Amino acid sequence: MFEIKNLSLIYDMDKTEKVCAVNNVSLSLPDTGLIGLIGPSGSGKSSFMYCLSTLKVPTSGSISYQRKDFATLSNKEMELIRRQEFGFVFQRHFLIGYMTALDNVIVAANKEDGSKEKGSEILNQLGIKASDIRKKPKQLSGGQRQRCAIARALMNSPKVLFADEPTASLDHETAYMVMDYLKSYAKEHLVLVITHDRTILKDVDMVIEMWDGNVSNVRKGGIFL
Ligand SMILES: Nc1ncnc2c1ncn2[C@@H]1O[C@H](COP(=O)(O)OP(=O)(O)OP(=O)(O)O)[C@@H](O)[C@H]1O
Ligand SMILES: [Mg+2]
Repeated sequence: MFEIKNLSLIYDMDKTEKVCAVNNVSLSLPDTGLIGLIGPSGSGKSSFMYCLSTLKVPTSGSISYQRKDFATLSNKEMELIRRQEFGFVFQRHFLIGYMTALDNVIVAANKEDGSKEKGSEILNQLGIKASDIRKKPKQLSGGQRQRCAIARALMNSPKVLFADEPTASLDHETAYMVMDYLKSYAKEHLVLVITHDRTILKDVDMVIEMWDGNVSNVRKGGIFL
């Protein structure tokens, strides 16, 4: 699905101090599967994910998605891919305060038909009770909000789901439940999950470890502790 060649992302290009957040990374990612991206804070995980998801333009190197080189696509083409094929879960949930949980989930749905049913179903599968889907974000716990953000990202059934620490505010049991859900979604889609928590990566299909901007290790299968 992705072919990444000699990818680098350098911040602060114009100033004297440059940070090489992603340093000459080359990697292939499959069409489907659940991939864990781990590494210490500051190792470049989010930066790498932002490049893959078109949210940041790399300083050098190339990214091909379904054999299309991002560098050859227009802004409009990139926007279409982002809107129709990619889903995003950010560490901060960015829910809209005056809307209910369900409305937040369906607000960006590409199709109107059946979106309420689909949104409720995903929320339910992520363990949000029917009585909670009419609540506003401020009436929900941090973990419930985060699961709303996951549901929102899944509404358009994206081919690729990018999730930056989607389980950070969840207890272990709920984190496992969310990972199980993502695992089954990843049977037919690609799911990339950044995490600090190795214990939730036991059932993933691939683990990418980053260290100081470099990919220090790639292995098939999950982490057994
Ligand atoms: N907008 C920015 N401007 C300048 N430097 C940045 C910017 N964003 C990140 N960096 C730097 O790039 C490096 C990689 O940051 P990044 O956010 O990708 O790391 P991370 O692995 O996601 O860390 P964390 O686990 O803490 O989220 C760090 O040294 C960071 O300070
Ligand atoms: Mg990060």
